Amino acid sequence: MTTPIPSPPSVPFLGHTQSIDRDVPILSYQLLSKQYGEIFELNLAGRLVTIICTQELLHEVSDEKRFRKVLSPSLNEVRNAAGDGLFTAHLEEPNWAIAHRILMPAFSTMNVRNMFDDMVDVVNQLCDKWERFGPYHKLDPAQDFTALTLEAITFCAMSYRMNAFYVEGLHPFAKALAGFLFECNARSMRLGVVKPFMRAANAKYEEDKTILVNYVNDILEYRRANPTDKKDILNIMLNGVDKETGQKLSDQSIKNNLLIFLIAGHETTSGMLTFIMYYLLKNPEAMLKLRKEVDTLIGSRAMTIDDVHKLPYLLAVMREALRLGPPAPMRGAAPWEDTTLKGKYPLAKDSAILCAIYLIHRDPKVWGEDVDEFRPERMLDGRFEALPPDSWQPFGYGMRGCIGRPFAWQEVQIVLVKFMQRFTFVLDDPSYDLKYKQTMSIKPKDFCIHILPRTDKK
Ligand code: HEM
Repeated sequence: MTTPIPSPPSVPFLGHTQSIDRDVPILSYQLLSKQYGEIFELNLAGRLVTIICTQELLHEVSDEKRFRKVLSPSLNEVRNAAGDGLFTAHLEEPNWAIAHRILMPAFSTMNVRNMFDDMVDVVNQLCDKWERFGPYHKLDPAQDFTALTLEAITFCAMSYRMNAFYVEGLHPFAKALAGFLFECNARSMRLGVVKPFMRAANAKYEEDKTILVNYVNDILEYRRANPTDKKDILNIMLNGVDKETGQKLSDQSIKNNLLIFLIAGHETTSGMLTFIMYYLLKNPEAMLKLRKEVDTLIGSRAMTIDDVHKLPYLLAVMREALRLGPPAPMRGAAPWEDTTLKGKYPLAKDSAILCAIYLIHRDPKVWGEDVDEFRPERMLDGRFEALPPDSWQPFGYGMRGCIGRPFAWQEVQIVLVKFMQRFTFVLDDPSYDLKYKQTMSIKPKDFCIHILPRTDKK
């Protein structure tokens, strides 16, 4: 016996599109899940999508023998720029497998350790900039974190300086990317018949796409004109040979993947840093504990790569911030064959599933009734390891999980240690409550802080 998947009342032709908040869709899904529970079906711009909201269901959908990644309509729009690069490739595309085998070792924890000095260089640039601001200077950390993470991925992986800290406002690449991703999302919610009439939006989308592609071409041309022996990611892309096929990456595949790293590698990590800053400022006890851990274990000496593994509270802060603020709040999947979830909800072969990671990370069955509280303690002393499987999935899953996780992890660890060593932070508006900006990723919106150099240094 199967149970039909519940679905809210819908409007003919438009389905549920009009009832979803265009700015922050994840909040509409949250409201719907309060009403409809663990699973519900929506008709979004003519496409039926099943949204799943609990750990139990995510655990089933994370079985790669039964389910695979599919591109959501918005990722399909990103694909127009990045082709069959890692993030936007369909699973069966040969270039995905070749790039995956060549690039997985390049992003291993061991290889990322070799980028430590370059990462510290970039983080110091941000700290030096912030140290010069007086306490009255109000700043939006999301903007500077975007500069930081963009600089980190280009400098550490491609030995190319974007000089993102030395432009007024957002770097042109980051600006074009924000516009491009916004429009990818907007297009995914539009009915096909409307699309050709959105002339201004379509022109802006093409313009932003061209800016992104031109940057990638510049980075590649610069490397070809200035070859180096450095074993960075770009050289691995240029020279690496796939052991299984004997093939190298084609020029187009290198360009696609460079763009993917620029896209996937910076928006998400800057979102993570902004969420951490927000939750620490709203939870001063956690901020104090983190500061104390850094003071006790490192003090004011220069940190080393080995320090990053000795900071359990810092690790717990990172995990808890990713639980409440997963920068990638949803991921797309589909069943290989007709199947059921929990033995009762029917799903047809290839039907679209959206795993609402943001909601799954708030599943009270797993996290208790205080799900909305920031409590790094729930990630300490073996509790993280004892969680039910797939309770915490900010980096995706399996073969199509995040390749850049060790990179992001190390980058954020360095940033947090340096911040604790050098600054204290103050909320601009103590009554600020979290608002989200959602494109392909989510991050805090209109969140501003003040920075004071530490005067009580250890
Ligand atoms: C895939 C999250 C940082 C490169 C993914 C996926 C998630 C994710 C959820 C799977 C998406 C899906 O199933 O559709 C994050 C988060 C990050 C982060 C939360 C930071 C906090 C990075 C960085 C890089 C990167 C720094 C590159 C340097 C990629 C790539 C894929 C991916 C290439 C596609 C892998 C494949 O399908 O083969 N990421 N990511 N990510 N990520 Fe990340």
